[in-house]
Amino acid sequence: MNQPAHNQPDAAKPDATKIAAPIGVFDSGMGGLSVVAELHRHLPRESILYYADTAHVPYGSRSDAEILALTARAVAWLFEKGCKVVVVACNTASAFSLTSLRQHYGVQLPIIGLVPALKPAVAATQTGVVAVLATAGTLRGHLLNDVIRQIAEPAGVTVLTAFSAALVPFVEHSQHHSTECEHELKRVLQPLCDAGADQLVLGCTHYPFLSAAIGRAVGDQLQLIDSGAAVARQTVRVLIEHGLLRPVHAEPACFEYAVTGDPERAALMVAQWVALPFCRVSVA
Ligand code: DGL
Repeated sequence: MNQPAHNQPDAAKPDATKIAAPIGVFDSGMGGLSVVAELHRHLPRESILYYADTAHVPYGSRSDAEILALTARAVAWLFEKGCKVVVVACNTASAFSLTSLRQHYGVQLPIIGLVPALKPAVAATQTGVVAVLATAGTLRGHLLNDVIRQIAEPAGVTVLTAFSAALVPFVEHSQHHSTECEHELKRVLQPLCDAGADQLVLGCTHYPFLSAAIGRAVGDQLQLIDSGAAVARQTVRVLIEHGLLRPVHAEPACFEYAVTGDPERAALMVAQWVALPFCRVSVA
């Protein structure tokens, strides 16, 4: 088993095995598949190994220490499987673990994280009011609060925040088209509309799967913004910077995933949402 070297510079050029290795993607559950879709769109030749901690989802209502420990375990698993980079496709996990993960792995494993996409929302707002829908963990984490201080406040834009513990479970159980889900979205989002918000930042990777239900709940007053494409572009940059992009003549890409919970439920969601071929399942 490879042991991560702590902050040791490694100037060696990556070998062919490393370049061929998959991108590791981690989420507390299946929401990170919204990021997988964008990664595949931007990097169609790259293989992806996805780790969903479905035995412990949702992370949003867990303590900072629990989120950090669960995330560290997931990333260690992806590292041991030989992933060349890891995308933490979870705003909640990113909020509590990016700094310590980067310190731990150093140059051995580039780590890409997520923060709610407030910047484009601030640039786009006509009303001067933007809303962020995220988990309780993401809302109290420092990443989002730093962006609010650095981007929204200097621009004079008001940021409203909202959360509902019910939303991630709706997606995990494929109930995101249900009327219960729509009513919950209406309950959470209508006050944001009434307060003048015109942009809604989807601050959780599960929420892009709620886009249609959000439209049914509150119409088109809210422009939806998520981080998937920005994270995919950042992943392209990191792969180029580290000489890790797969070449044009590479083997066809494949998607493999591992879940800590019910593999059958996960298989249904993967079949519905993942366009990558050669799907395989393993249990983490
Ligand atoms: N997809 C995760 C995120 O982006 C969901 C968090 C949770 O498990 O509550 O935050």
